[in-house]
Amino acid sequence: AYYTIVDQETCIACGACGASAPDIYDYDDEGIAFVMLDENQGTAVVPEEVEEDMHDALEGCPTESIKIDSSPFNGDALKNE
Ligand code: F3S
Repeated sequence: AYYTIVDQETCIACGACGASAPDIYDYDDEGIAFVMLDENQGTAVVPEEVEEDMHDALEGCPTESIKIDSSPFNGDALKNE
């Protein structure tokens, strides 16, 4: 199982992640991305059928703001950094 979260401090609203994984990432009024599964807490298991989209989003983000891990983030996008 995988969990994902957006580091909103480094997201530059480029819009790539929601294009790659529209079932996972959405944007706020300023275009900053968030994980729609859990209000960007990184606590919801990403559905298997969109795992590949999630990895595409990771690769496509120009600022490395997409984080993925096998344990929950509990709101801390930088827990591994
Ligand atoms: Fe932001 Fe990266 Fe998505 S810059 S909009 S998290 S692709």
